Amino acid sequence: MPKPIMDPITEPNDFPGSRDCSYLDAANICLTYRGAQEATTEWFEQLALKGAQTFDGAAEESVFDSLHAAAARLFNAQPDDIAVGASATELLASLAWALAPGPESNIVGVDVTFPSTIYPWSRVARSTGSQVRFARATDGYVRLDDLIALIDRNTAVVCISEVEYSTGQRYDVAALAEAAHKDGALLIVDASQSAGAIPIDVAASGVDALVTASYKWLCGPFGVGVMYLAPHLQDKLDPGLVGFRSHKNIWDLDADRLEFSDTASRFEFSTMAYGCAVGLTASIDYLSRIDVGRIFDHNLLLADQLIAGLLERNAEILPPRNSSERTSIVAARIPGADSTTIAEHLKSQQIIVSARRDAVRFSPHLYNNPGDVTKALDALDSLLTK
Ligand SMILES: Cc1ncc(COP(=O)(O)O)c(C=O)c1O
Repeated sequence: MPKPIMDPITEPNDFPGSRDCSYLDAANICLTYRGAQEATTEWFEQLALKGAQTFDGAAEESVFDSLHAAAARLFNAQPDDIAVGASATELLASLAWALAPGPESNIVGVDVTFPSTIYPWSRVARSTGSQVRFARATDGYVRLDDLIALIDRNTAVVCISEVEYSTGQRYDVAALAEAAHKDGALLIVDASQSAGAIPIDVAASGVDALVTASYKWLCGPFGVGVMYLAPHLQDKLDPGLVGFRSHKNIWDLDADRLEFSDTASRFEFSTMAYGCAVGLTASIDYLSRIDVGRIFDHNLLLADQLIAGLLERNAEILPPRNSSERTSIVAARIPGADSTTIAEHLKSQQIIVSARRDAVRFSPHLYNNPGDVTKALDALDSLLTK
């Protein structure tokens, strides 16, 4: 396949790290958007210099307001539907304990999912006696019908990662929500591998809750995650993790009463590295300005170029191959060397990818261009023809 002609969708200074290498590893850790890094650093500098003189009670109370608004725009939700925490896993764990499905119920997941997506449920199930059911993957691929077939009247929760971290398989979230709701179950989505890479519309898909990490496709700093919680759940759940911020008036500070707010913010509970939330707001606003649909198209073109080049080198591309389930994550078994050797060789040539089990995982994002893919393919040739 000839190199596709593509207009860059980022400015060279937006991702300074992309000048020094071909970074094809967003599914692991993204390059941070410069504006996000600057906003985070500035916030911590200000705190170091001025402490509570500038970061006073009112500032702490409203510190998440702009992230609530930015994440709501990204997901087509309302600011009241958003909670901020220190990571996707933390928010998911608090949600799992809040729902705590009982002994007669089951939780449906996928056996190749990223452990953090399902461990919180397994832990709760150990305590309550509920059952965790896994849809089984074949060569990393899960049939949607197999997943749906596990849902029954005793299913309390279906919890999946919208995009599988190891293969890039994308699930039809709206179909899963419909299947879950038919049996009275909730659909909970881990969007850590989709937010920022794929347009998300919680109103259209009907998911009940969604969490995401910050440092993958959202190009934000470590140390922050966000959760969308559908309005019908917001005043019903007692979060699993609580602290002074859990009270609806965070400065109430009366230890003998705990009254939650009526919004998703009841899941916010402690003093966290607030500057990371400020940084994530900057990167979400930036991605929204570019438009996530445009980013998705850009990334898929790079993935197409990559797949064509890998097939020319007799690589085996892990499924899915059909367009509705594909993303820009491309996992390939490449004849002639194992995945770790390949990833290390590429790294020595300033091309960054991940080895995941026996496959090499490439995950191009908005700062990449066709030249990055060509460099990766050339570097493969230099290793394999040695
Ligand atoms: C699907 C998915 N969920 C969650 C995480 C990690 O989340 P956290 O930042 O909470 O560790 C990852 C990281 O690879 C992931 O792929």
